[in-house]
Amino acid sequence: MKIVKTVAEVRAQVKEWRDEGLSVGLVPTMGYLHEGHGSLVTASAKENNRTVVSVFVNPTQFAPNEDLANYPRDLEKDSAYCEELGADLIFAPEVEEMYHDGNVTFINMTTLTEELCGLSRPIHFKGVCTVVGKLFNIVRPDRAYFGKKDAQQLAIIKRMNEDLNFDVEVIGCPIVREEDGLAKSSRNVYLTPEERKAAVVLSRSVRLGEAMVNNGETDAEKVLAAMRAEIETEPLAEIDYLKAVDGLTMQQVKELKAPALIAMAVRFGKARLLDNFFIEE
Ligand code: PAF
Repeated sequence: MKIVKTVAEVRAQVKEWRDEGLSVGLVPTMGYLHEGHGSLVTASAKENNRTVVSVFVNPTQFAPNEDLANYPRDLEKDSAYCEELGADLIFAPEVEEMYHDGNVTFINMTTLTEELCGLSRPIHFKGVCTVVGKLFNIVRPDRAYFGKKDAQQLAIIKRMNEDLNFDVEVIGCPIVREEDGLAKSSRNVYLTPEERKAAVVLSRSVRLGEAMVNNGETDAEKVLAAMRAEIETEPLAEIDYLKAVDGLTMQQVKELKAPALIAMAVRFGKARLLDNFFIEE
C-alpha cells in the first residue's frame, strides 16, 4: 500500500489501474480511523479491484469556533489499519495541495443543507460538498463509501452526485456501534469517562424509537417525545436537535413512513455526537 500526498500522484496511480481495466473504490475520511471507517474500507475492498482512502482534515467544513485545530490525527496508525483491511492507496494531502492559491470556487447546495446539522453548522456542508466534489474529480472512483451515521451528509452527497453528474455510485454503509451501543465516532475521544457513560443514552433512545415504529407508531411527534424524554434522563446530554425528516430531502415530516429518518445531534461537554435511524419499507 502506498501513501501519497499530491493530486498528480493519485491521478498517475489511478490511471495505471484504469489502463489495466481495474475498478476503483474511494473512502473519503478525515482520519483517526475507527471500525466505522474500517467497515467502509472493507466494503470497498470487496466490491472494487482497488481502494483509495483519503485522509484529510478538511478546513473548509469547520467554522472558526469549531475543533479544526484539535481534531484528532494519527496517520501512522491509520495507514497500518487501512493496509490490514486491504486498501491500496492512501491520499493524505496537505491543506495547500487541496486549496492552493486561496481557493475561490465552492459547491453550495440549498434546501438539504439548511436543516438539521446545517442549522447549527451553517458553512459545514459547503465545505463537505466542495472537498468531496474535489475528491471525486481527483480519484474518479467507480464507487464511494460513506457511513449512515452522518445521514444528512450521505443524502447531500448523493444529491450532489446526481445534480452535478459525477457518475459515482455513492454507497451508504450501516452505523457501527461500540458494544454498549454508542455509535463509533472519531469525536468520541473528546468524552470524559463520565460523559462516555452518559452518551449511551443516544443509542437507547434510538432503540426506543425503532421499537415504537416497529410496533406500528407513525406519529413522528409521539416517537420524538418518547426519545427526547429518554435523552433527558441524562443530565449531561444537551440536545442540539432531534427531528423526523424525509430521508432524501431532509425536510421535516409528521408521519413516519419510508424513507423517513429520525436524526439527532446531542452535546456531551466538548463532544457533539450524532445518531439516527431510517424508517425503511
Ligand atoms: O465524514 C467525514 O469524515 C467528512 O465529512 C468527509 C466526508 C471525509 C469530508 O471531509
